[in-house]
Amino acid sequence: MSQKLQDARRYEEENEKLIHKEDRPAFHLSPRVGWMNDPNGFSYYNGCYHLFYQYNPYDTHWGPMHWGHAVSGDLIHWKYLPTVMAPDRSYDSDGCYSGSTLELADGRQMIMYTGRHLIIDENGIEQEVQTQNLAFGDGVNYEKYDRNPVITGKDLPENGNPYAFRDPKIWKEQDGTYWVVIANEDLRDSGQVLLYKSDDCIHWTFVKTLMKNCGKLGLMWECPDFFPLDGKQVLISSAQGMLASGLEYHSGFGTFYFIGDYDAESCDFKPECNYAVDYGIDFYAPQTLFTPDGRCVMIGWMQNWDTCNLRTKSMPWFGQMCIPRELAIRDGRLCQKPVRELEALRTDPVSYRDVLVEDSEISLKGVKGRLVDLTIEIEPVEGKDLYGEFGVRFAQNGIFHTDVSFRPSESVITIDRRFSGSRKDIVHQRQTDVNHEKGKISLRMILDKFSAEIFVNDGEKVLTAAVNTDLNADGISFIANGAARIHVTRYSLHEM
Ligand code: FRU
Repeated sequence: MSQKLQDARRYEEENEKLIHKEDRPAFHLSPRVGWMNDPNGFSYYNGCYHLFYQYNPYDTHWGPMHWGHAVSGDLIHWKYLPTVMAPDRSYDSDGCYSGSTLELADGRQMIMYTGRHLIIDENGIEQEVQTQNLAFGDGVNYEKYDRNPVITGKDLPENGNPYAFRDPKIWKEQDGTYWVVIANEDLRDSGQVLLYKSDDCIHWTFVKTLMKNCGKLGLMWECPDFFPLDGKQVLISSAQGMLASGLEYHSGFGTFYFIGDYDAESCDFKPECNYAVDYGIDFYAPQTLFTPDGRCVMIGWMQNWDTCNLRTKSMPWFGQMCIPRELAIRDGRLCQKPVRELEALRTDPVSYRDVLVEDSEISLKGVKGRLVDLTIEIEPVEGKDLYGEFGVRFAQNGIFHTDVSFRPSESVITIDRRFSGSRKDIVHQRQTDVNHEKGKISLRMILDKFSAEIFVNDGEKVLTAAVNTDLNADGISFIANGAARIHVTRYSLHEM
């Protein structure tokens, strides 16, 4: 084991004790110490789920990328394992970037990841050479392949940029062949996703450019994922430098999906539509896996590169994953629901039916907390005008609150954390349009200590945001402008 890997393992073991359990999210994965970004190698292997992640153990800011590691039996309770990779080879000396895993026929787990190595090019400009590399392991310890890298700039199509070539997502087909999609920058046209094939995981051949951005959705694409779902094929990717477009896409870093048909013979992917994956503030770089019982589950980084300043000085860790979400295609769109395993954390149900909220703010006995699974069905009141706005206010005390509000006349839902205690001038609000029948919608809100995930209409849309409000702000109230009738079910989610 390299000195760098030993150092990281020792450092995390010694320093994790300094982070108190109360200061971590209760059921969202945070880094063992230091900083976390993208989920990597999300997989089911040797009887449990594995989640690796982009990891800088030494600081709560991005830095030399290692791969952190955690395992889980149920996608909710995670146990840290030692760091699996450190930037300790010539080809990854400046970072072990994102990648994925695959179980081999001999029982080993293989990682394919991007190595980042800085050079000064012929024009005297610093560039990052990005190559794809392998490591083999048993679920705890991994050895980097001694003939790395296995895919390099030489394997790029014409105009492919070797300095922006990363985040391999690998899979095996029924016929035993291996495939990988890798993000790349086309020097003329911004992001593209490249498809490679191999018979042995070692020798890879470029097959085709699966998808080209053509300057439409942001600039460089990152972290592609390509998988079958409900008879269709889905391509998810995250882009730098998006331009806002209506309420669908916001400027900056964003994650989108294409749904289409894939012809495995010709490797033609014909996308039919594209939409944002999450309409909140903090979501990026997701990865999916298939569970042993056949569900497609996605997990993403519950952060956004542009909002990383949402931190408090005393924060002993930075970055967390979203709740793993079951995916399905419904009405031509990706539908997301929290994994059903979350329900095992539910306690103390409180429920109310037919509560009238009329031009007022009300709270309901027993409905409060920062560890909550809360469902609210909202509908108009017969014989009265359609309400103007309905809001749920949470993480609330006399000073702070975060709001989700819905205006049926505009069909727009807004998440607003302006008053959540952040002292930074960063994005705190976001909106999306939603389907509803005359003001009837449902919201399921999953609150952990430092986040809120709002699932609208049973997963039709999701809005995710990190919320760092002091934990004693645990009030929840309901506000109507006009008259609305609500049915509310609240569970506490018990700390693990
Ligand atoms: C996406 C990303 C990836 C890269 C990693 C580096 O968030 O920029 O493209 O592999 O983060 O940490």
